[in-house]
Amino acid sequence: MKGTSRLTLRRTEAARQARRVVAPVSPIVKWAGGKSKILGPLLDRRPTAFRRYFEPFLGGGAVFFRLRPRRAALSDLNPDLMNTYRCVAWHVEAVIRRLRAHQRNHGQDYYYAVRERWNQGRVRSDVGRAAAFIYMNKTCFNGLYRVNQRGHFNVPIGRYTDPPICEAEKLRAAARILQRAELATGHFTDRVASAGPGDFVYFDPPYDPLTRTANFTSYTPGSFTEADQYELAQVVGDLTDRGAHVMLSSSDTPYVRKLYRGFKIDRVAVARAINSRASARGAVPELIITNGYVG
Ligand SMILES: C[S@@+](CC[C@H](N)C(=O)[O-])C[C@H]1O[C@@H](n2cnc3c(N)ncnc32)[C@H](O)[C@@H]1O
Repeated sequence: MKGTSRLTLRRTEAARQARRVVAPVSPIVKWAGGKSKILGPLLDRRPTAFRRYFEPFLGGGAVFFRLRPRRAALSDLNPDLMNTYRCVAWHVEAVIRRLRAHQRNHGQDYYYAVRERWNQGRVRSDVGRAAAFIYMNKTCFNGLYRVNQRGHFNVPIGRYTDPPICEAEKLRAAARILQRAELATGHFTDRVASAGPGDFVYFDPPYDPLTRTANFTSYTPGSFTEADQYELAQVVGDLTDRGAHVMLSSSDTPYVRKLYRGFKIDRVAVARAINSRASARGAVPELIITNGYVG
């Protein structure tokens, strides 16, 4: 095509893809602290318009998959989770083929054999790892992601009669949304460094524990400490100074209320699904903190 550079063509194609209407989809992995149950109150508090969307504690990405922003920067510290999203975005049919094989073979012995191969580093290709990750997520106890000190995934098989191991159409729909996003593994501080005026950053960090025994923070080896909560509050302050819209989910603790004094703090009820003690499941209020761009 005379007079039109390759770069221009590529940009035009990217813009065309971004304009495509894509349907919302629910998360493709179960994740502790998933936001599906509190989506309404979160979406009510989003800015009416924004440039880029950032979600640096992505987990199941319930907010992202519902929002379907045209431009997004998504990240998490968990490399296996981010590899899964990258493979679903760009190699979805290959992931589906492998998941179908897992579905055919699924059973107790098979689950533990896959887990063993995974922990021994014998699932090598990115697509193979993505499929194994989704398979274990759909069949393990409560969809938990938990690793021991050596980084070995140690969650037992869950009790499901017919777990949804391969949801092909949902994965294809998720791929269309994920293709619009930059996907990276990394620490939250680095991943929001480029956010600026008019961008929208949603933080859903591991929660400040309500009690000493409630500190479920082992999504990745190492935990999210009070120092991390403090650093996050500094980052939220910097982003506010730079003109970004910020929304943050949090547990309701005196420490968090102290860190975000001066921000808009709303307390909302949410039914929690992931807790090892069934008796501890139920409505637990949590906070949605914003930096005052709405109202
Ligand atoms: C509460 S979960 C996010 C839930 C998610 N928004 C959802 O809707 O399912 C917190 C996530 O933060 C990630 N994480 C923990 N420490 C982190 C850090 N320092 N930087 C970035 N991500 C981190 C964990 O791997 C985990 O996926």
